[in-house]
Amino acid sequence: MKLIFATNNAHKVAEINAVIKGDVQVISLEEAGINIDIPEPHDTLELNATEKSKTIYELTKMNCFSEDTGLEVLSLGGEPGIKSARYAGEGRSFEKNIEKLLHKLENVANRSARFRTVISLIIDGRETLFEGICEGQIIEEKRGTGGFGYDPVFVPNGADKTFGEMTLDEKGLYSHRRKATEKLVVFLSNMSPIFNSLSTSNEI
Ligand code: IMP
Repeated sequence: MKLIFATNNAHKVAEINAVIKGDVQVISLEEAGINIDIPEPHDTLELNATEKSKTIYELTKMNCFSEDTGLEVLSLGGEPGIKSARYAGEGRSFEKNIEKLLHKLENVANRSARFRTVISLIIDGRETLFEGICEGQIIEEKRGTGGFGYDPVFVPNGADKTFGEMTLDEKGLYSHRRKATEKLVVFLSNMSPIFNSLSTSNEI
């Protein structure tokens, strides 16, 4: 079975493919030959995730899913949240977004933050949402060159490395995206015998 993943972000595709195994083949928008930039006009992750998956479902009538993720910093009242991709302006620069975040947190003692991922899955026209959360801390200077987005400044609780210093598998041990994807896998496994051979990559 094919599931279109409504994203153009290769990092997200790799992280999700590390979790979904078995009979489900995840294909990116590029692999599906779809070349659109889907808008994220809403003020919740849930509505933006729904917007993305519905757009692709209406276009293709194929089973699909999308995800929307935000970094929520406690002492900034949940910012950047849904503005995570464009925190420093329209340019979508990871570097500039991190600079702005670190600037806002200068001399701020409470650096608690969390990543929250919402997945919207559409199977035969019916939508189901899944959530995954990873709690952690924003450090004062970037460490590591792996991953994407805010990975170099985020240390998940229980770890001593930033996501930017971790391998894909290490990030998966803590990741918001992995947690949401595991719920999707369980849902598909329970839905139909077709999906019974699905398994997650828990064994790392
Ligand atoms: P999106 O709208 O779901 O693509 O994500 C919004 C922004 O959040 C991205 O552009 C990244 O800056 C950031 N982001 C999302 N997921 C992650 C992650 O796993 N690590 C670090 N940053 C992330």
